Amino acid sequence: MESNRPFDESTRIHDVIIYGHPTLRKRAADITVFDDELREFAREMFATMDDYEGIGLAAPQVDRPIRLIVIGLPDEERETYDYFAAANPVIKESSGSWDFEEGCLSIPDIRETVTRPETITIEYDTLQGEHKSLVATGMLARVLQHEIDHLNGILFIDHLSPVRRALLNGRLKRLERESQES
Ligand code: CO
Repeated sequence: MESNRPFDESTRIHDVIIYGHPTLRKRAADITVFDDELREFAREMFATMDDYEGIGLAAPQVDRPIRLIVIGLPDEERETYDYFAAANPVIKESSGSWDFEEGCLSIPDIRETVTRPETITIEYDTLQGEHKSLVATGMLARVLQHEIDHLNGILFIDHLSPVRRALLNGRLKRLERESQES
């Protein structure tokens, strides 16, 4: 398992910031320099995502407001993970609709059903600065949309109906207080 992982035991692990931290609500900055520092930071994001047992992570979640996301989806057939990093990702097209329960490393212990398009086309830059496009469906499309939202200061709870959101208010307020105390 995980023989293809793009990090090792020596890779730095960052702290994931929690709901209430102002960086989670900022629009992250475009990435314009594709150098070794960026690629090392991407490795650190992969290591952090793995350490927190997540399947996706956006740079603002480690208090670095730049437009970089990483994804690591388990591939059951091959017993490996498909690791993917994207800089400056933008959704160009979307279609279909799919309800699925989401959580977020920055909003611990809350899971809610979110409706999102099922298939999307994104454009992004690789860590080498190469411009590419990708058509994604199912779980990959789901995680991409969740992580791209983070780059725009949007959290999955923002997609809930006012009634669902109101029901979470007490727990969110508590997270906010804990986040500000730490
Ligand atoms: Co999240």
